[in-house]
Amino acid sequence: MKTRQLTPEDVPAAAAVLRSGGLLGIPTETVYGLGANGLDPAAVAAIFRAKGRPQDNPLILHIPCADWLEQYCVQVPPSAYALAERFWPGPLTMVLRRRAIVPDAVTAGLDTVGMRCPAHPVCRAILSAAGVPAAAPSGNTSGRPSPTTAAHMLEDMEGKIDAIVDGGPCQVGVESTIVDLTAAPPRLLRPGGVTLEQLQQVLGPVAVDPAVLRLMRAGEQPKAPGMKYRHYAPKAPVTVVRGEPGRSAAYIAAHLTADSGVICFDEYRDRFPGCNVEAIGPAGEAAEHARRVFDALRAFDRTPVTRIWAQCPPVEGIGLAVSNRLNKAAGFHIVDADLEE
Ligand code: TXA
Ligand code: MG
Repeated sequence: MKTRQLTPEDVPAAAAVLRSGGLLGIPTETVYGLGANGLDPAAVAAIFRAKGRPQDNPLILHIPCADWLEQYCVQVPPSAYALAERFWPGPLTMVLRRRAIVPDAVTAGLDTVGMRCPAHPVCRAILSAAGVPAAAPSGNTSGRPSPTTAAHMLEDMEGKIDAIVDGGPCQVGVESTIVDLTAAPPRLLRPGGVTLEQLQQVLGPVAVDPAVLRLMRAGEQPKAPGMKYRHYAPKAPVTVVRGEPGRSAAYIAAHLTADSGVICFDEYRDRFPGCNVEAIGPAGEAAEHARRVFDALRAFDRTPVTRIWAQCPPVEGIGLAVSNRLNKAAGFHIVDADLEE
């Protein structure tokens, strides 16, 4: 099929793609999504085919406002409304008990569903005009870095989807935070644009799923099925180097080979002469790292690098999400420069 390229003025055409059971590239504030009518099992099945996504990995339902929540969820706890009040529209997905109207194709048969109200105005306009919720995973081929521009989504999806709306580069750059409100205490399943610290301000104690911080052991099941897959991975293997930025830069410089790629903070970009370098913003600016980390990972696939080294921000605020994505791209292959001689 030919993928039509739409602009923000084409909201009616984009909504028509969703209503007619097609596949639509949708801009959101986190990453581009691969959307379909979330109430249409055949359309949802086409998402899995286009991405090459494992069938046991459920999708998030996107709605234009919190008022739609009760149409798809039951036993919605007061904490969900408190979170919606504070963070919606925005980069937060809540896992809630689903109603039967939500197809098994969306939830992979779970009795819960992830609900998100995105902040991107074009996305909300499309959802309102379509009058249906959109099931939408990130718009990458399964396993590849998530797309933060329409061009990156087209690298993976040209010819596989009906249309894509170019809403500009994504403002957050990493996917939404996922919190499971059916668990007590609520559980962080994926760190993202809304920080753990912000969730705790509204919810009190929040458990952190082990899959956020480390590789699952044999037989262990993360609560978000998607967290078990190797993800966000460029073709070359990645090593994350944690620690004080001066030390991590020195560690990488000492271990470089000529065919290495480096993801680093801006201050250190001149320390790796002759290498492919992707600077992701000044040290300490984790929100900027979030905006640029997926583009950096994706860029190496257009180069001959055979090995990638990455500096990593501290695991606080949105730095937790950046470090989670880098660690997953590295298959949790992590060195701590502060502990190395
Ligand atoms: O920012 C985002 O959330 C983007 C944009 C497009 O909205 N979407 C996104 O979707 O990241 P996806 O499919 O790439 O990641 C969804 C994650 C997966 O890890 C999946 O396993 C988990 O959410 N998930 C979905 N429904 C769930 C449920 N009912 N219980 C637990 N985890 C769930
Ligand atoms: Mg994804």
